[in-house]
Amino acid sequence: MLAATGHAVPKRAFTNADFASIGVETSDEWIRERTGIGQRYVAGDGENLTTICTEAARIALQRAGVTAAELDAIILGTASPDRLLPATAVEVQAALGATRAVAFDIDAACSGWLYGIQVAEGLMATGGYETILVIGGEVLSRIINWKDRNTCVLFGDGAGATVVKRSTKGRGVLSAYMRSDGTLADLLQRPKGAGSHPMDAQVLAEGSHFITMAGREVFKNAVRSMADAADRALDGAKLSASDIDLLIPHQANIRIIEATAKHAGIPMEKVYVNVDRFGNTSAASIPIALSEAQEQGLIKDGMHVMFVAFGAGFTWGSMVVRF
Ligand SMILES: CC(C)(COP(=O)(O)OP(=O)(O)OC[C@H]1O[C@@H](n2cnc3c(N)ncnc32)[C@H](O)[C@@H]1OP(=O)(O)O)[C@@H](O)C(=O)NCCC(=O)NCCS
Repeated sequence: MLAATGHAVPKRAFTNADFASIGVETSDEWIRERTGIGQRYVAGDGENLTTICTEAARIALQRAGVTAAELDAIILGTASPDRLLPATAVEVQAALGATRAVAFDIDAACSGWLYGIQVAEGLMATGGYETILVIGGEVLSRIINWKDRNTCVLFGDGAGATVVKRSTKGRGVLSAYMRSDGTLADLLQRPKGAGSHPMDAQVLAEGSHFITMAGREVFKNAVRSMADAADRALDGAKLSASDIDLLIPHQANIRIIEATAKHAGIPMEKVYVNVDRFGNTSAASIPIALSEAQEQGLIKDGMHVMFVAFGAGFTWGSMVVRF
């Protein structure tokens, strides 16, 4: 059961117009037309993945009426950890004072929160865990190449955190689906700067430690995989599209969101969209959207919400949750 969700973003909003100030040749019109993005948040001095995730976590804990000391586990989905070692989840654990919790990261890129919820459900079913914090958080601004207009306009920073408890009274996860395909790993990656090619002067000079993406290929795969995931979610829950009260898809691009909704047979009025204000925040995108939807009172008890994610790997997946 998703007991409560909170979200946090850095202070600075960076608009499409702001790219001119850093010499990136693009335009508000191009970015909006191709992606639907109008602005994104970018971490500044004193802000990092730990601080943003901790802020989101505190809001979720407070909304759930749970203390940090009650947490049995903290699972952080991220592709942009504060350090390569150790996991950022343990830094969040320390910041929260979640002394009893086991804490670890999941790297499933944009599917990180969705994978995290499904791992949490598994721990509850088999490991005796009662209360788990699942966070999707990213500081992508630190791993994108701000000189590459193909990628730098797309991504943003932020975190969403969800307190997960055991399901009760027919509330909880009705269907869950996770997939990955490593044969397509090269299409969206950080090519160098880690184990297979450690950081050196050449990597720094060519910027191959930053995210690179074959945009059109990623787009096609995202549309195909999210359509598959939406079908699986409905089949698994034995529901039809008309039973879904709200679709919260990964917020990468408005055209991918529209294609997913169309395939699933869910009208856009029932689709939560905030990519215009946050950009693609990868693992954070779904929990930020869920947190906003709940703040706006869009999710009432008994409603069916469908989540669909897709990201680097490729990874993808879906869930239907009854609130
Ligand atoms: C990246 C993406 C928006 C590009 O849109 P597109 O319609 O495929 O655009 P194209 O690749 O055809 O590029 C068209 C032109 O725009 C240019 N362009 C790229 N980025 C630009 C930008 N920010 N501003 C202006 N022009 C840009 C390209 O250089 C290209 O110019 P060229 O034809 O002279 O080489 C689109 O492919 C996409 O959304 N892909 C999926 C990305 C994604 O969501 N990734 C994360 C998944 S979790």
